[in-house]
Amino acid sequence: MSNFTPTPADRFAFGLWTVGWSGLDLFGNATRPPLDAVEAVNRLGEMGAYGVSFHDDDLVPFGATAAERDTIIAQFKNALSATGVVVSMVTTNLFSHPVFKDGGFTSNDRAVRRFAIKKVLRNLDLAAELGAPTYVLWGGREGAESGAAKDVAAALDRYREAMNILCGYVRQQGYDLRFAIEPKPNEPRGDILLPTIGHALAFINSLDDSEIVGLNPEVGHEEMAGLNFAQGIAQALWHGKLFHIDLNGQHGPRFDQDLRFGAGNLRGAFWVVDTLERAGYAGPKHFDYKPPRTEDLDGVWETARACMRNYLILRERATAFRADPEVAQALAAARVPELAEPTLAPGETIDDLRAEEFDIPALAGRGMAFERLDQLAMEHLLGAR
Ligand code: GCO
Ligand code: MN
Ligand code: MN
Repeated sequence: MSNFTPTPADRFAFGLWTVGWSGLDLFGNATRPPLDAVEAVNRLGEMGAYGVSFHDDDLVPFGATAAERDTIIAQFKNALSATGVVVSMVTTNLFSHPVFKDGGFTSNDRAVRRFAIKKVLRNLDLAAELGAPTYVLWGGREGAESGAAKDVAAALDRYREAMNILCGYVRQQGYDLRFAIEPKPNEPRGDILLPTIGHALAFINSLDDSEIVGLNPEVGHEEMAGLNFAQGIAQALWHGKLFHIDLNGQHGPRFDQDLRFGAGNLRGAFWVVDTLERAGYAGPKHFDYKPPRTEDLDGVWETARACMRNYLILRERATAFRADPEVAQALAAARVPELAEPTLAPGETIDDLRAEEFDIPALAGRGMAFERLDQLAMEHLLGAR
């Protein structure tokens, strides 16, 4: 058994807003002091993280002067080069400031939409300067609380228009950046546009330049909608669209809990790691969670370490599951490999298929043996094998 100590080769990354969350929520004040970005980079680097990500306003406060901005960015760059931590993703805050109360790209207010695009363009330049390969777009305020307030078709037109402008800008500048859209069903809006992986995939396919646009799915967001996250990312991978991932924990359909990875739906987390590892997902394993406001700063670092440790533990369990000869037998008994066989053999025609006689009672009577397979997975997860 390994000691589950992360190294940069594991490509673990954290948002500055995660370990930096002060605990301010809808019902209570901050429970922790603000965390400096340089301190965050230093601590994450010491713990074996590979990357950091940030919203424009996490690093440079909204409304900072040009001189303040330059100083902050210079200090941040120094911390990056001193620690070897890379900027693995950058994103824009289009949700905190009151100006975005009805969204950014899809606000009914045209002037706000124009300001939102300008805010992203400015931060894209910084993302490119810092060498970030991925730019996330989470449209938390793109939505509505009531039916007549939002013309959904028009809103999608404007969303697409914004994406087309941003893709055009990245191409024109020659930036080596790809966009990743992050779906979420609700919160902070009553209902958010592009609520799930599936909605976002369909939207991406409607863009002028869909090649450089993919997904940043988050565990908790799909689970808030009652969906199976491992299956969701498996489909995103199948489309070649898993550009980035937000790992965290969630207990079923309720408010966005943003627990540390592995908390909440542990069995779901096992299948997430199994899916990523088997697919050879090479992007950052990015944790987007909120250390509970019960914790002091020591507790924050404990949760950060735990996110990485839980991934490594689950990776060991998933690898052992896949290497177990009994699992190979159980997979065969469950006819899992048979699903990889095309349903029509090469050269076969529809007429051949129609001519075939089926022994329906025999087929119907055949058990699938899935429970034994699942129990083996459970026992590996529980460390009982
Ligand atoms: C959430 C979201 C956000 C976004 C982040 C990127 O928990 O609702 O995950 O944290 O990921 O803001 O823009
Ligand atoms: Mn979330
Ligand atoms: Mn997220």
